[in-house]
Amino acid sequence: MKVFKTILSLQEEVKNLNSKKIIGFIPTMGALHKGHLSLIKQAKEQTDFVVVSIFVNPTQFDNKADLDNYPITLDNDVKLLEKIECDAVFIPSVKEIYSNSISSQHFNFGGIEHEMEGEFRDGHFDGVATIVKRLFEIVQPNKAFFGEKDFQQLQIIKKLVEIEKMPIEIVGCKIFREEDGLAMSSRNTRLSPKMREAAPFIYKTIKLAKKKFKKRNAHVVTKWVENQFKNHPLLKLEYFVIANEQNLKTLNEHKVRNDDRKITRKNKEYRAFLAVFAGDIRLIDNIKI
Ligand code: PAJ
Repeated sequence: MKVFKTILSLQEEVKNLNSKKIIGFIPTMGALHKGHLSLIKQAKEQTDFVVVSIFVNPTQFDNKADLDNYPITLDNDVKLLEKIECDAVFIPSVKEIYSNSISSQHFNFGGIEHEMEGEFRDGHFDGVATIVKRLFEIVQPNKAFFGEKDFQQLQIIKKLVEIEKMPIEIVGCKIFREEDGLAMSSRNTRLSPKMREAAPFIYKTIKLAKKKFKKRNAHVVTKWVENQFKNHPLLKLEYFVIANEQNLKTLNEHKVRNDDRKITRKNKEYRAFLAVFAGDIRLIDNIKI
């Protein structure tokens, strides 16, 4: 595997590839875990040359402490990538990407950027779209792989390539979980043992919400989840939302029947999303329901 630190050297390598080769790309912020590796495995199956980037993007952090404390495990990341036989890794500096102006471009994604994470993390998606657009311009992949773990981000990136008319196929990949159900995340390594023990409660609760959603309306399920967390001694719920998968608008079902019979919904494309604080670590998860 080749390691590139400059834009020019990476572009030189990509330029020299046979033009028939399909380039696959997985942007990451490093501290790689099995969730990242599952994306890389899919890229290896579907493309001929796999590029991973590792870049902790300052413009997508709305919280300085979160940026300062973001785990960095570069040596281990490179070892993992070599072992999985990734073709190239791009590890640029902040200066290489942003020169002297560390700022985001402002985007209009038709409203999906204001829901959920957009509401609670000011400027987050402008930062994500700015860096992903920049990386796409540098790497020029045919296919790029993103996890459903960050489902809203995946939808934003699909909109980004549409708006910018970039000829890149965006592939969504399933959430990879720990055995106890906790969605893998670089931030999990920062959980205290007590919080780590508590965290599987998040997935357990949304799995139960999924079951309840068959017979109960979205309003009742939302209140139920909120109560579960109110009663939890360690985990603090920031939001729980049942939303349409495409436009990410909250499903408003106050008036839908609420008894023990199954509810039939015409549109079945719904997902439940939540963000939870485990101490000062913010965890997100979602489930198709
Ligand atoms: P990062 O959090 O490092 O995630 C990189 C990619 O891995 C994202 O597409 C994310 O959704 C996916 N991923 C993370 N955990 C996963 C899991 N448990 N299962 C499946 N996929 C998972 O997301 C970012 O970085 C950044 O915002 C980035 C896109 C790199 C832009 O800076």
